[in-house]
Amino acid sequence: MANFKPEILGFLCNWCSYAGADLAGVSRQQYPATMKVIRVMCSGRVDLAFVIRAFANGKDGVFVGGCWLGDCHYVTEGNYDALSMMHLGKKLLEYSGINPDRLRLEWVSASEGLRYAEVVTEFTDELMKLGPLGESEGVDQKELKLKIEAITKLIPYIKLVEREKLRVRFESKDQYEEYFNSDAVKLLIDDMIVDKLAISQIMVLLEEEALSSRDIADNLGMSSSEVSKHLSNSARQKLVKFNESERLYALA
Ligand code: FES
Repeated sequence: MANFKPEILGFLCNWCSYAGADLAGVSRQQYPATMKVIRVMCSGRVDLAFVIRAFANGKDGVFVGGCWLGDCHYVTEGNYDALSMMHLGKKLLEYSGINPDRLRLEWVSASEGLRYAEVVTEFTDELMKLGPLGESEGVDQKELKLKIEAITKLIPYIKLVEREKLRVRFESKDQYEEYFNSDAVKLLIDDMIVDKLAISQIMVLLEEEALSSRDIADNLGMSSSEVSKHLSNSARQKLVKFNESERLYALA
């Protein structure tokens, strides 16, 4: 992967990380030119949809930079929301077969030009090891596109689940880590998101053509029993219909 240069989209908070990037520049810190930057007023402004869209547009990594906890410039302390968004985003990527390390959140203050250069270098190195989006995952581009489209379609619902069930406020990064890796959150995500994500993938696949349940299983790397369960649920909700004579499923 010697010649691979990852493409990163970075969302930097205006007050800390963006100023840190500026300082890295004027201090002539050396770091790879792998990141295109979008300035946002607060890391809490970075919507899950922005992250997924960046991957849909072929970015190999997404970076979110914000103020250190306790230093956010807004009373709403958006960097705590950024932490939740990052954990949920990583879970969604994981469930869709995309390496969650491709999404990274870091705190960089306005005085930390050197730290900015270091985290960008580190993230670039990590992505170089992973290779282009889809490669380390062993997913071809068509399958990758389908999986990302399936998440995109589900984002309004996922944001609702996040707002109703996963909106938490802890003091430290470790506590967020612990909470999002807990059995309770895993159960909740399995219960409320994973099946819907699988159905969304089936819907996206059937948008192209009618398929047998075996073809759906092969295309999505799911077991036949999983596909049958999702198809019968979808048929009950009148999302898909079954053509008896051709033995194919299509969108209803
Ligand atoms: S203003 Fe920087 S993270 Fe909120």
